[in-house]
Amino acid sequence: MNATIFAPWDDPQAKPLIQFRNVTKRFGVFTAIDDLSLDIYEREFFALLGPSGCGKTTMMRMLAGFETPTEGHILLGGQDIDPIPPNKRAVNMMFQSYALFPHLSIWDNIAFGLRRDNMPKPDLEARVEEMLRLTRLEQFARRKPHQISGGQRQRVALARSLAKAPKLLLLDEPLGALDKKLRQDTQFELMDIQEKTGTTFVIVTHDQEEAMTVASRVAVMDQGRLMQVATPDRIYETPNSVYVADFIGDVNIIEGRATARTEESYQIDWAEGQPPLTAKSTTALATGQGCHLAIRPEKVTISAERPADAINAIQGEVHDIAYLGNLSTYHVKLANGTIIKAQTANTRRISRRSFTWEDPVWLSWTATAAVLLEH
Ligand SMILES: Nc1ncnc2c1ncn2[C@@H]1O[C@H](COP(=O)(O)OP(=O)(O)OP(=O)(O)O)[C@@H](O)[C@H]1O
Ligand SMILES: [Mg+2]
Repeated sequence: MNATIFAPWDDPQAKPLIQFRNVTKRFGVFTAIDDLSLDIYEREFFALLGPSGCGKTTMMRMLAGFETPTEGHILLGGQDIDPIPPNKRAVNMMFQSYALFPHLSIWDNIAFGLRRDNMPKPDLEARVEEMLRLTRLEQFARRKPHQISGGQRQRVALARSLAKAPKLLLLDEPLGALDKKLRQDTQFELMDIQEKTGTTFVIVTHDQEEAMTVASRVAVMDQGRLMQVATPDRIYETPNSVYVADFIGDVNIIEGRATARTEESYQIDWAEGQPPLTAKSTTALATGQGCHLAIRPEKVTISAERPADAINAIQGEVHDIAYLGNLSTYHVKLANGTIIKAQTANTRRISRRSFTWEDPVWLSWTATAAVLLEH
């Protein structure tokens, strides 16, 4: 393992900071978390992604100690945290709706938890100043929360959660209240602060782009289960299921039947009157087995002529065009009615011919562009 790459999950010697061991959480008869096992390592920026109600907040609340698992165990640094009350855990949670004390100054908001712990005054002052510097809030120290902006309040909440130097900081939709631009700036600040403090962060977000930006690893959840846990690039490039491929980013899904051609190369028959497709896959599929091909629109090339050396090429006509400034997405309709999306980057120099509605076009992609998934 290259020492400069941070990937403790690939190191069999590395000890996880957090371990979920077959954790189930039921509320009455409803199972919110279903026999879930997961390791999170020190200094990770770990993101939980999934649809509303899949159990993200429940995971966080169990880590923080506001809920106890119905079955299974959660370990922090190798110790079962079940008997440890929330305020004794080296864990802090920044809530979905963070609440600052409106009558206290920014300085006193950050100092609040330290005062409650009776931290000696010189230490407390030094710590608050350090947090103000870290979150670039020095000039707002004497103001009240209503006298600063939403983004600044966000940073105060973060400074307050980090003041007690928790081992683990849980962030439930921390940037939900911010607009897109401020959100992006704050994401980079969060990453910077996380790196400087060496704190392990677990973040919940609805925004997949945000998860991909900040996280060392992403867990995609569905109905109390983990669907895939991997680095952002692996989640995007090699999703393990149609669910994950579809949840992260835009994707074309083609359903068909696989026949092994050579080792790791499959022919996929998928529609009457359409040429078979070719895809490489390291997961073995039986002949005739139903499968899905997942292809990202940016991996599909659109052209007027059939590219001479194309492994996969299909014909259609432009049905719709979504212009996004830097990108254009063409919705191409095939003879059988299937719509395939192809995305092109609008670079300054016009390198490709552009197309308009009802133009006949060819779509092509390489054998490795698509991910072959079992049914
Ligand atoms: N105290 C509770 N009693 C009963 N059901 C609960 C309780 N807390 C959570 N649930 C249920 O457990 C499921 C998971 O809830 P949770 O809050 O973890 O979802 P989430 O993934 O955080 O969703 P969101 O993205 O909407 O915040 C939901 O169906 C929810 O209704
Ligand atoms: Mg939630």
